[in-house]
Amino acid sequence: MSRSDDPCVIEAHALTRIYPLENGGAVGIRDIDLYIRNGEMAVIKGNSGSGKSTLLALIGGLDRPSRGRIVVGGRDLTTASAAELTAYRRTTVGMVFQAFNLLPTLTALENVCLPALLAGMAYETTRESALNHLRELGIEKLADRYPAQLSGGEMQRSAIARALINNPSIVLADEPTGNLDSRNGEIVMRLLADLNQRQGRTVIVATHSALADPYATVQITLRDGMIAQRTPCNG
Ligand SMILES: Nc1ncnc2c1ncn2[C@@H]1O[C@H](COP(=O)(O)OP(=O)(O)OP(=O)(O)O)[C@@H](O)[C@H]1O
Ligand SMILES: [Mg+2]
Repeated sequence: MSRSDDPCVIEAHALTRIYPLENGGAVGIRDIDLYIRNGEMAVIKGNSGSGKSTLLALIGGLDRPSRGRIVVGGRDLTTASAAELTAYRRTTVGMVFQAFNLLPTLTALENVCLPALLAGMAYETTRESALNHLRELGIEKLADRYPAQLSGGEMQRSAIARALINNPSIVLADEPTGNLDSRNGEIVMRLLADLNQRQGRTVIVATHSALADPYATVQITLRDGMIAQRTPCNG
């Protein structure tokens, strides 16, 4: 797996996202300066509305800032073209969401394959790699099931496999255990921690839950769109 030599894989400078509204605009995040090194497991905390999803969407290249800069692996996302952002989303980051976001008309295996096929990978290699990911996540036997035939925990594990199919160096997870019971929540958080600890990926998890705490190497707390606290952990 290729890794940037730059120790600060994610850098935000005065990063600001204001959502335009008729009465002036809602602050998503404002003036965030943030450095996350390669191989960290960063846990982002904060009350509802504090800006966690906004920040992850900017890091993931799903959204663009109103002001400030976001640089990932030396790539300035602020000035990237739409095509460059698409390539970045396909190759560098994998994303996992609270609601799993699997396509209902595709099987688990097909969902996992999709991002690689869109990136132009050959079908047979993709299928083999998808089955490997599903095996590692303990759900290979469910490969041919549709999302509606899976439990929440199984759907989230399929979504993690999908996030990994293009071998991203960064995995972003927005409230990944929010729709899971505590046992499945623990399993999913453990799997995300494995991606960090065993596979050396940079993992950023936004969550209300304490399940991520034991694995965090750094904890960032947001309040009203700003960083209230940043604590290195001994993880
Ligand atoms: N599309 C939008 N239009 C207007 N305001 C928005 C939009 N998305 C988010 N916001 C506002 O931006 C702020 C930050 O929202 P964000 O979703 O990032 O918070 P969060 O920390 O992820 O919250 P939660 O824990 O509930 O998921 C909130 O005040 C929210 O109302
Ligand atoms: Mg959110």
